[in-house]
Amino acid sequence: MSRIAYVNGRYVPHREAAVHVEDRGYQFADGVYEVCEVRNGRLIDERRHMERLQRSLSELRIARPMSLPALSIVLHEVVRRNGVRDGIVYLQVTRGVAKRDHAFPPPGTRPAIVVTASRIDPAKTERYAAEGIAVVTLPDNRWERVDIKSISLLPNVLAKQVAREQGAREAWFVGADGTVTEGSSSNAWIVTSGNEVLTRKADHAILKGITRTVLLDVLKAHDLKLVERPFTVAEAIAAREAFITSASQTVMPVVRIDGKPVGNGAPGLISTALRADFSRYTEKS
Ligand code: PDD
Repeated sequence: MSRIAYVNGRYVPHREAAVHVEDRGYQFADGVYEVCEVRNGRLIDERRHMERLQRSLSELRIARPMSLPALSIVLHEVVRRNGVRDGIVYLQVTRGVAKRDHAFPPPGTRPAIVVTASRIDPAKTERYAAEGIAVVTLPDNRWERVDIKSISLLPNVLAKQVAREQGAREAWFVGADGTVTEGSSSNAWIVTSGNEVLTRKADHAILKGITRTVLLDVLKAHDLKLVERPFTVAEAIAAREAFITSASQTVMPVVRIDGKPVGNGAPGLISTALRADFSRYTEKS
């Protein structure tokens, strides 16, 4: 089945899909995005992703390119046309196409929209989860509004590359105060020796992950104590367990931080249980 992308109102062959050279996303990273998990051909937590999209758009004063019901049809149609059973659907909205000028384009400039879908082999993700992943830590050098899911991801790109070059799957950003903010494309969590589950509060210093939000419900159901506070790298290395959350990986155990084992160096019981139970708490559409 050949891949199809949705670009500004048209379903086009993926290899021919293109945006204008003066698209403000291309020139200024002036846009926002969402990544939704697809499982068994269904979108996971679409409603929450669309709420966050709307928030990101509003914060940047970009108009929504179409109504939410219309957007939902496009998302499902791209998944269907690509025959994606398990994977992700990607949605990007930019401030549109206009003559290059840093300030906003003239009123009436239409926002540009792209939707793609990709398969992810669930067996491969499960293999990572069974082994656990390594993370490295790096100074958080991003701007102070990373709560907005903007396509401006250069620090995240550079951080992920450092991780890959060091044999790790994720990079954790560390703030000036020595505490972990989040991963380059995930939220960061630890489980303390007292079985408290720690993640930092969703303020402007992190993206409020949808997986994170759903996991709060899973924790309640498991009667686990959640503490929303920052933790240091030393605390994470000394923790009983660590894990990350994101739409494409759900709950992924972390077994090494900067080359040092977490717990006994194997995925923890709590992380594994949360991963196993996670999908029961998601909305499917
Ligand atoms: N990343 N923090 C950052 C910086 C992220 O980029 C992401 C998601 C998350 C987790 O958010 P959620 O649980 O809603 O996926 C946290 C997506 C998957 C990506 O960029 O591919």
